[in-house]
Amino acid sequence: MQIPNLLEAKKRNQKDILIKTEQYILKENLKKIGLGKTYFVKTYGCQMNEHDGENIKAILEDMSFTECESMEDADVILLNTCAIRENAHNKVFGYLGRVKHLKEAKPDVIAGLCGCMAQEEVVVSEIMQKHKYLDFVFGTHNIHELPVILNNTIETKSQQIQVYSKEGDIIENIPVKRESKYKAWVNIMYGCDKFCTYCIVPYTRGKQRSRNKEDILDEVKHLKEKGYQEVTLLGQNVNAYGKDLQENYRMENLLEDVAKTGIPRIRFVTSHPWDFTDEMIDVIAKYDNIMPYIHLPLQSGSSRILKLMGRRYSKESYLELAHKIKERIPNCSLTTDIIVGFPGETEEDFEETLTVVNELKYDSAFTFIFSSRVGTPAAKMEDHIPLAVKEERLQRLNNLVNQYALEANQAYLNQVVPVLLEGMSEKNEDMLMGYTDTMKLVNVKADQKYLGQIVDVKITDVKTWSMDGEMINI
Ligand code: SAH
Ligand code: SF4
Ligand code: F3S
Repeated sequence: MQIPNLLEAKKRNQKDILIKTEQYILKENLKKIGLGKTYFVKTYGCQMNEHDGENIKAILEDMSFTECESMEDADVILLNTCAIRENAHNKVFGYLGRVKHLKEAKPDVIAGLCGCMAQEEVVVSEIMQKHKYLDFVFGTHNIHELPVILNNTIETKSQQIQVYSKEGDIIENIPVKRESKYKAWVNIMYGCDKFCTYCIVPYTRGKQRSRNKEDILDEVKHLKEKGYQEVTLLGQNVNAYGKDLQENYRMENLLEDVAKTGIPRIRFVTSHPWDFTDEMIDVIAKYDNIMPYIHLPLQSGSSRILKLMGRRYSKESYLELAHKIKERIPNCSLTTDIIVGFPGETEEDFEETLTVVNELKYDSAFTFIFSSRVGTPAAKMEDHIPLAVKEERLQRLNNLVNQYALEANQAYLNQVVPVLLEGMSEKNEDMLMGYTDTMKLVNVKADQKYLGQIVDVKITDVKTWSMDGEMINI
């Protein structure tokens, strides 16, 4: 039994810690325990968590479990959770009610919880007191231990809690069951050391640890050989890649080497404005296979609030960077994240956010109401803003964001753009769907035989969040 500890999770050693890179190995005696049994994994949260979900599924399949479509049919249920905002929490606790019912009806079902909520001390103590029907809990640092934890659960029939609050290691060779045959996520780093005052991620994911470049490049080359068209390099703060490595090898070097593998499309998320160098912009502009799409979280347009958030840039320096990106990377789409209602945000502060949105006319934005997270500095700041005011600000912001998203899309009307056709359209079963190089969602009239290819598409109609188009036969 190892329960999470908030104080330990906050710790960062002054000296460089030794990051052990370990290999995932599945013991022979655990390879067959899932024979004839099914599993269901439900994932919440960011791309990194989605990618963890792909690892978890592959580990379960290594143990001979097979995936099933619904929780009700599964022998093993796993909730891979997110802790970023209160509503993410509430969704999971809501879902747990269903799990409890199911377990009452089918006591042999095994149910576990993992992901970022598992790293939270408050959550795990609540599980131990009020959710005793949950069979096991493990955290973000020990996904590779799932086989052993699951086996212990089966053998001991007692609740297993195995969560480490540590700076973290890097585990290589964890198998992966990718959702797509055409595009893949590739972790380039784990954890975060930025400690923005509102954010729980540095506590749930540990210290920033960059993967060795050789491991990353091998993974990309392997994906290319298997016919993948697109990779997205993942990290909480990818621009800081390499800062923790001995070698002088940074994000611009990695991007260039990944571009040289010749994989057709490269994306990366998320960029923190603080570490975005001129060299990176040059590399993105130089290589056609690095997509002209930058997600550059703003959070707030008020320098005063940015300081309280601990974001390490001002409104002015953010604007300067964003303009530089737009000038040097032609046709670049720019998206962002914005928080409204941070403690102490005044109407004037909020209007500065609107000013930035008006100036940069983002292609799209994820917008959130500030959510207080236990253990973060912002949770202790005085928050006098009534919820109604926060909601009204969010609405005004969304109206503006939507207006610019539509305007940005309108510029595509009648243009011919490259789209990677990656699946069936949700909206119309006779159509396919895919994304432009600039990350615009397009529903495309095209034959299914073109799935997995980057094709030319003429845009025939645009909406706020998607476009329609027809494939042009060459
Ligand atoms: N590493 C990324 C962000 C990851 S979290 C970055 O630094 O940009 C994704 C987004 O969730 C953040 O950009 C932020 O806008 C939002 N977010 C994070 N913590 C939040 C909180 N406590 N309340 C509301 N939104 C939050
Ligand atoms: Fe959170 Fe800030 Fe790290 Fe992003 S950079 S994960 S917002 S602490
Ligand atoms: Fe959520 Fe953890 Fe990602 S808190 S946003 S799943 S890093």
